[in-house]
Amino acid sequence: MKAVKKIGILTSGGDAPGMNNAVWAAYRCALSNGIELVGIRHGYKGLIDDEIIELDTRQVDSMLNEGGTVIKTARCLEMLEDEGRDKAVETLKKHEINGLIVIGGDGSFRGASEISRRGIPVICLPGTIDNDLAYTDFTIGFDTVCNTVVDAIMKIRDTMRSHNRIGIVQVMGRHCGDIALFTGLAAGADYVLVPEMQDKYGETFDFSNLMNHLNMMWAANKHYGIIVVAEGIYWRTPDRAKMLREMIESNSNYEVRETILGYMQRGGAPTVYDRRLAIESAVRAVELLSKGTGNRAVGIRRNEIFDMDILEALATPLVFKEELYNLVNSLSTSR
Ligand code: F6P
Repeated sequence: MKAVKKIGILTSGGDAPGMNNAVWAAYRCALSNGIELVGIRHGYKGLIDDEIIELDTRQVDSMLNEGGTVIKTARCLEMLEDEGRDKAVETLKKHEINGLIVIGGDGSFRGASEISRRGIPVICLPGTIDNDLAYTDFTIGFDTVCNTVVDAIMKIRDTMRSHNRIGIVQVMGRHCGDIALFTGLAAGADYVLVPEMQDKYGETFDFSNLMNHLNMMWAANKHYGIIVVAEGIYWRTPDRAKMLREMIESNSNYEVRETILGYMQRGGAPTVYDRRLAIESAVRAVELLSKGTGNRAVGIRRNEIFDMDILEALATPLVFKEELYNLVNSLSTSR
């Protein structure tokens, strides 16, 4: 295999805290290996539209503490078609970029696999706040988002407790309830609703179980509560938290308030965990490419950075952390 001389790096899909640290580490590592690293703005969209940018040390150093992604990102439908994929490869060839690092979620990995198939080695890093890539224990950005969400829940909890109210907090997580699950556990939430439970029991979650839980709390003199709802439940209804408030209020005398945390979850400087994951993964990516190895997804398992075939990584089924879910509900101060 041909060793690479020039690597391109792009961030794709929803931004995630830590993406900038991955760019920083890839740049530093490439530099010390005598490899040039260039940025591709706006993810695959920019690759197709030829938005290649030079990076320099000072600029890359200034990214270190930034949230979001400085080289910018986009969601790109053109990469779903062969025409778009071919154009992406043309841009890489035009700039003599013979290795690519893609930081993003499952859709971005699919695009990367198509580029690899066309002969350019690509390494994927798991950059998504949802933690919905099953091949890796954690994705870049997830830890930061969880910390932000826990902080928000604790503040909401203060005011709910003061007024004897139930607070519903809707968090991100399209098909995977990990943000709700981990933050619910960390913030001592009384109940967590995740899309995985919805799948298990059909169209809806078990509403009567939730009401029993709230009633038990009230009977035990705990007159406030926090319910964390992953946005993935009732995916076809945009306003899940409001719907849940109406359901609870029409079945009880409880006073309920909902908060949709929205995009404030995704911003902000990355935590140490996300920095470390991003930096070590990016270094592994450059090392692989420097040997001419491509078509690999980098991840972390049992605290060790590892890499595996992109398609095999994508085929790893998501396993619902049911024990964690049961733990949140069993630790709830309902008795
Ligand atoms: O990146 C993942 C994610 O943050 C999901 O949790 C959320 O549903 C989605 O992106 C929001 O996407 P957009 O930024 O396109 O509104």
